[in-house]
Amino acid sequence: MAVLDLRDLPDFTTNPYPYYAKLRAEGPVHAVRTEEMEQRVWLVVGHAEARAALADQRLGKDWRHTGLWTESEAALSANMLELDAPHHTRLRRLVSREFTARRIEALRPRVTEITGELLDAMAPRGSADLVDALAFPLPMTVICELLGVPDIDRDAFRALSNGIVTPTPEQRGADPAGAMGAYLDGLIENKRRSPGDDLLSGLIRTGEADGEGLSSAELVGMAFLLLVAGHETTVNLIANGVRALLDHPDQLALLRADPGLLDNAVEEMLRYDGPVETATFRFARETLTIGDTEIHVDEPVLVALASADRDPLRFRDPDTFDIRREPQGHLGFGHGVHYCLGAPLARMEARIAIGALLERFPGLARDPSGGELDWLPGLLMRGARGLPVRW
Ligand code: HEM
Repeated sequence: MAVLDLRDLPDFTTNPYPYYAKLRAEGPVHAVRTEEMEQRVWLVVGHAEARAALADQRLGKDWRHTGLWTESEAALSANMLELDAPHHTRLRRLVSREFTARRIEALRPRVTEITGELLDAMAPRGSADLVDALAFPLPMTVICELLGVPDIDRDAFRALSNGIVTPTPEQRGADPAGAMGAYLDGLIENKRRSPGDDLLSGLIRTGEADGEGLSSAELVGMAFLLLVAGHETTVNLIANGVRALLDHPDQLALLRADPGLLDNAVEEMLRYDGPVETATFRFARETLTIGDTEIHVDEPVLVALASADRDPLRFRDPDTFDIRREPQGHLGFGHGVHYCLGAPLARMEARIAIGALLERFPGLARDPSGGELDWLPGLLMRGARGLPVRW
């Protein structure tokens, strides 16, 4: 099969959807080259095949045996998203004891309050970068308070996290994972010395009684995953979602006229232009076939969620942003055992943030003087570094 180099496609990062449409028309699985990995990768683009692949236990997440790690990356890798059963099952069970629906629901007043404060700070200015003013600080503050690290240096953390999740080609030689590991070691050490009733203290305590507790490496991995997954994604749900609304004035007007549509609108934002473009890498644990493609042991597989959610075999008029459609069944939060742990929190944050933003700024619009959007590099995340708006 011919190998398509995604790096050669003009404007793929700005707008990958027409390319995905073309690939889907040709078949559900394609051999591609990407920025992320030296070797050839299998890209799954059809909805049915993507959903099945996400739940397929023959595709593993633990890639430590592949030798593709740097040492610092390996130090962060003892986390759910990079492990298979039984390790994944155990870690997910331990965190689920702490990451309860009740703990998340209890955050609602605080999420509303933080949103209000951020909008208050924005209001007198007349224009702003929505990412800096709202979409980044809201989830970052919430996840830090939830974990019990309110005094984290957010700008430093943001730079490290961006360096790992969406590295620019120049950043690829640097070692943000090493700095992140050292940073988290210190954070956890502090937490051990002065525990509170927060999630991280709970995770340090959890399982101690039944001898199932988290090792130091697992605590670092868990803190890493929750802090990074807790903000890198939600920032882009809020920003991509607001961008979709501002670019579709009819849909914006519908939502303003009937705020009861908000929950469904957020699901449609996840489907239409969700923050996670491809799921994380999977590796064939045995030879398997997806569509007509035979995939051999250890070959890497990427599931293109963004493509699956625009598959016309699953969603009618998939390229239309329609906040009244039934977007259920989208893969924006993944599927199967690795289904997003933070989905209820992310939904709550996005609904509160977007609802309050629209209510507060009736004249909100894109700010053309803000310049071109700076799209996030790489395949994992879909979004832009900023969203200039005015009101
Ligand atoms: C809009 C926001 C979010 C989106 C679109 C999103 C999306 C996803 C996706 C697609 C996966 C599966 C990846 C894969 O299978 O390769 C995932 C897993 C995960 N997410 Fe999220 N996420 C969001 C917010 C959050 C938040 C706020 C948290 C935590 C506070 C979180 C924590 C996690 C964790 C821990 C996993 C791994 C679960 C496992 O391996 O069992 N996510 N997320």
